[in-house]
Amino acid sequence: MKKIKRDSWGSRLGIIMAVAGSAVGLGNFLRFPGQVAQNGGGAFMIPYFVSLLLLGIPLMWIEWTLGRYGGGFEHGTAPGIFHSIWQKNRFIKYFGVIGIFGPLVIFIYYTYIASWTLGYSFLSMTGKCSQATTQQGMKEILVNYQGLNNGGLFNGSNLSILFFAITFIINTFIIYHGIKGGIERLCKIAMPILFLCGLVILIRVLTLGTPNPLKPDWNISNGLGYMWNPDFAALKNPKVWLAAAGQIFFTLSVGIGVILTYASYLSKGDDVVLSGLSAVSTNELAEVILGGSIIIPAAFVFFGPAEITNIAQGGLFNLGFVTMPLVLNHIPFSAIFGFIWFFLLFLAGITSSVSLAQPAIAFLEDEFDISRKKAVLIFAAVTLFLCIPGIIFLSKGVVDELDFWGGTFCLVLFATVESILFGWVFGIDKAWQEIHHGADLNIPRIYKFIIKYVTPAFLLIILGWWFLKEWLPLIMMKGVASENRIYILGTRIMLLVLFILIAVLVKLAWKRKRVVK
Ligand code: ALA
Repeated sequence: MKKIKRDSWGSRLGIIMAVAGSAVGLGNFLRFPGQVAQNGGGAFMIPYFVSLLLLGIPLMWIEWTLGRYGGGFEHGTAPGIFHSIWQKNRFIKYFGVIGIFGPLVIFIYYTYIASWTLGYSFLSMTGKCSQATTQQGMKEILVNYQGLNNGGLFNGSNLSILFFAITFIINTFIIYHGIKGGIERLCKIAMPILFLCGLVILIRVLTLGTPNPLKPDWNISNGLGYMWNPDFAALKNPKVWLAAAGQIFFTLSVGIGVILTYASYLSKGDDVVLSGLSAVSTNELAEVILGGSIIIPAAFVFFGPAEITNIAQGGLFNLGFVTMPLVLNHIPFSAIFGFIWFFLLFLAGITSSVSLAQPAIAFLEDEFDISRKKAVLIFAAVTLFLCIPGIIFLSKGVVDELDFWGGTFCLVLFATVESILFGWVFGIDKAWQEIHHGADLNIPRIYKFIIKYVTPAFLLIILGWWFLKEWLPLIMMKGVASENRIYILGTRIMLLVLFILIAVLVKLAWKRKRVVK
């Protein structure tokens, strides 16, 4: 049987840019400030950095190493990679299903949200966003755009569907052109532009001064202080820890499955230590320096500390889509700055969404020997269909439900499985050797201990705490409005069917391999 040649990266800079592109996303510019605000500003940052050191960085190294190792066996996704690690175990490949299912689920709502940023780039340029002068007015623009008040059964406006279609086509176009010709090329162009746009907005925000003469305390340095002054009392609150760990997963794209796939296109002798660390550093620069110093201080100088938390409690994205355009309306050339802001978000979104698509495509290519072009067309047809519920039932909580399973639960579960596999089944000594193969940097030895004990223990505690506190209320849909329950149930059934389907495909792929052998 003819084996299709696997794709590869064109250069080291290319893969670092691609992984950084996957990591730097809406999570950095919208989710991060929202989390900081929802969790009381400075209270969030200590758990955040602890999670970065004990979860984020080790998991990044684990995934780069596992991906490169699996790539050596021509496996680019978790079922095959897990199987290569633990060949005697027949079931381990089914745990790998999470590494295809998770990114697929995130992709189906992430692409829609990314499309809003393209729509808002357009609305900013046309001056529509400048028409609102209050939070209420700006919220109305958002609600109209999302088609939440169109009177019909279904959400979605003509404009939101148009921009979704454009975003979806751009995604398909990029992944159709492959790893080197599509994703790498996009990230090499988009990432520098993204940072440039971020820098422009950052400088504008930092020079805002004290726009409200009646509130001299509402200035930029106090705005930065809101985020950076630590609150040690909050360390006792497990919810803040959970939120911080969740943000680290989401923002670094670890625990999803995408880094495994990207790293599977490396060669055996390629460095993973320095490259992984460079991708983490680029992401943190974008998140903490740009993401953290734009929305929060800007909102602080116009609305004050109490209002920031209020706005964020009203919706994680409100700071980005409601408050930020309102802030920009107060400065000259607001249309241009508004465009730069939303276009920056769009670039961040698209470089992440293409990475979310890659595991499913790699699975079809590697395990079924389907050509990339065919695999992309199958992927596009299936995901186009799966995107529909999130768009038309947005107000019923479908996107939140998808985000919970795909963007939170699966990440922690997957990371737990892979960290145990790496440190215990593969064995930490072998793992340590494998990480350092071709490495341009030696990892401090303390990380051998962290990878073996601390990271899995931290993950098991998070998972255990979650099962203890949240499992039952979640299954019983506590807190879900009774009229929305049917939609949430429908979403769960859709996800279950999707999961089972992928598991069946894994079974078929392995059966097929036995026959081919
Ligand atoms: N890591 C991506 C983000 O931050 C998913 O948005």
